[in-house]
Amino acid sequence: MCGIIGYIGDRDAAPILLKGIEKLEYRGYDSWGLATILDKISIRKGIGKIGEGPSDPLELKGKAGIAHTRWATHGGITEENAHPHTSCKGEIAIVHNGIIENYQELRRLLSDEGHNFTSQTDSEVIAHLLERYYNKSKNIKNALLATIKKIKGTFAFLVIFHTDPNVIVGARKDAPLVVGVGEDEFFLASDVLPFIEYTDKVVFLDNLEIAIATKNLLKIFDFKGKEVKKSVTQVAWEVGDASKKEFAHYTLKEIYEQSSTIKNALYQDRMKLEDFCKAIKGAKKVFITAAGTSFHAGLLARYFFSKISKVYCEAILASEFGQIIDWIDEGTVVLAISQSGETADVLHATREAKEKGARILSIVNVMGSTLDRESDFSLYLNCGPEIGVAATKSFTAQLVLIYLLAFTAADKPVYVNKLKILDKCVESILKVEDKVIEIAEKYKDINDFFFIGRSTHYPIALEGALKLKELSYIHAEGMAAGELKHGTLALIDDRTPVVVLNPEDDTYHETLSNTLEMKARGAKIIGISNIDNEVYDDLILFPKVEELFYPIIEVIPLQMLAYHMAIGRGADVDRPRNLAKSVTVK
Ligand code: M6R
Repeated sequence: MCGIIGYIGDRDAAPILLKGIEKLEYRGYDSWGLATILDKISIRKGIGKIGEGPSDPLELKGKAGIAHTRWATHGGITEENAHPHTSCKGEIAIVHNGIIENYQELRRLLSDEGHNFTSQTDSEVIAHLLERYYNKSKNIKNALLATIKKIKGTFAFLVIFHTDPNVIVGARKDAPLVVGVGEDEFFLASDVLPFIEYTDKVVFLDNLEIAIATKNLLKIFDFKGKEVKKSVTQVAWEVGDASKKEFAHYTLKEIYEQSSTIKNALYQDRMKLEDFCKAIKGAKKVFITAAGTSFHAGLLARYFFSKISKVYCEAILASEFGQIIDWIDEGTVVLAISQSGETADVLHATREAKEKGARILSIVNVMGSTLDRESDFSLYLNCGPEIGVAATKSFTAQLVLIYLLAFTAADKPVYVNKLKILDKCVESILKVEDKVIEIAEKYKDINDFFFIGRSTHYPIALEGALKLKELSYIHAEGMAAGELKHGTLALIDDRTPVVVLNPEDDTYHETLSNTLEMKARGAKIIGISNIDNEVYDDLILFPKVEELFYPIIEVIPLQMLAYHMAIGRGADVDRPRNLAKSVTVK
């Protein structure tokens, strides 16, 4: 779950690399480092904020280099464990994203041969293996091929060699690696964000491929060393999409972007949409799989496909997908939902399903991501880069796309048209921020929160709780409103705030009864609804909309609530502790 970038060309590498890892920071942010090459390899590393450390990384000279931002897996958060890692004499430097599963065995072997390790990481073995094989063959490509043959696990890594300052190499297996193609320059990185301001031309490496780049030549090979011809894709993201603009945090900017991003999610290729629906309707079995916030969208998809499109389906957490693998066969469609398209649990689930003959459909935001490329069909969220670790705009875009699919599959064009005016409702719900700030101020010191809702509001209750946990570090639980009385009610007392998702639809009266049960036990009720009721201690009121669309509207004040509670408690909103945006480990 780290971010890597490499550069080779005519410009000074250090400023590009430093800015690059800042853009990749959402993939991990506990330590950072870069290495450039001039007459020798020079390295700067630090813990914590990128660029801050004992010496200035911009002092590094050279027109080629590699950099890394880390989310620790093996070895603590120390300067020694920060990447780049080097071979014994510092003549080879590597940065790595992934996990080398057999690193202990390799470390023993290499140590016995006299290699000297300076970190506790799994990654360092790559540098020493490369050294071992390079010393034998004096050939970069052969050393690389021999190294990847030896390592087990997942990796995308980049390497520079002291002996050849005009070359940068990379390899990928089950972790992303893309190459930005500039004029007499190449950028090798975990995704396009760190180089999109220099070039929008991209070569996507497939699994089990290596790249060898000089400033004006890029060659791609498979793991057997056979050259592979690749095409260059033009990607669409604008540079501005990835900046904070006037907002204090990316998370807040992304919350506010939702009035336009939900519109963008509707721009889908008609034929592709229909093919997607045909595949879902024609399948013998449909399983939806995803993780975290995307799974909450998956729960709603299950509800809408079953209820509106009359397609029975199951939603399974990607990390639990193995439990139902025996039910997957050629007649099965697996719909995977993922913002990044790089979540390891999701990729593992879809790969397993593919092996059993299932067709893989995906809803992703990142075009060219691993999930996108490994799927039979993909639809894109079109919501631009989401930098805040907490998913916000990608969630509402997922919901819009799910509605679009459900209505198209059910042949309900009237509802599709209604979706087109949803942005106006989102604009009006964004105006509740002042009320949300007032509520956040009142409850920010409380340590336990509950969120309840029935039917389509239940996944939103789960999502509200997840947002609050990850942004403000407050314990929160999302519950089906009807379930509270089966045990959790024991936790409710006169200090407990309960957020009730209760707009006026067919769940209204039953949810109200459940709310009264909590109120009778002293709970403080925060209502999210289009109508007031005396049971609410606080109310976030929004306009009446088409009933089916309430989940999209009501989640926005919950995102704002989590954001402002986090600000009130002094948490780092864009970079919550212990988390990373793309979870590329299982
Ligand atoms: O990129 P994905 O949608 O596959 O990511 C899945 C989860 O890791 C992600 O939604 C995570 O739960 C977010 N931090 C939630 O805000």
